[in-house]
Amino acid sequence: MKTLDREQVVAVLNRLLESELAGVVRYTHYSFLVFGYGRIPIVSWLRQQADESLAHAQQVGEWITTLGAYPSLEIGPLLDSHQNDIGAILRESLESEQKTLAVYRQLLGLVEGRSVALEEFARQMIYAEELHAAEVDKMLRKPGEIGAVRGATG
Ligand SMILES: [Fe+2]
Repeated sequence: MKTLDREQVVAVLNRLLESELAGVVRYTHYSFLVFGYGRIPIVSWLRQQADESLAHAQQVGEWITTLGAYPSLEIGPLLDSHQNDIGAILRESLESEQKTLAVYRQLLGLVEGRSVALEEFARQMIYAEELHAAEVDKMLRKPGEIGAVRGATG
């Protein structure tokens, strides 16, 4: 098995940790801004996403210390566009999820064939993030519309 570039892997893991933590803050913030008839299920869905981001952040952080490195205490970019329309919230979250997914793909590229466990982890996260993006895409479609909003998964 080829050797792992620990420094590069840790740098990518730290970016993932930061963006998952940003997800915790983002989803929690959005969950305060849902009004109207759909409030109850949408608030609980957003809080579930916040919990899932936290679980992902914790797994990523554990990998960083497993590799003997120090986990970042920074948080990824958060933009407050003052959106409280559900469609805008979902589009904004889909966009951030796509960015995180791209970083998980980068992680996979770095660990593929170099660490079975990290490769497995990267694939699991890509799988989870893709399912999540597909779900949000479906939420963004109008009832009766079958075409994907953002096209096929990459
Ligand atoms: Fe995640």
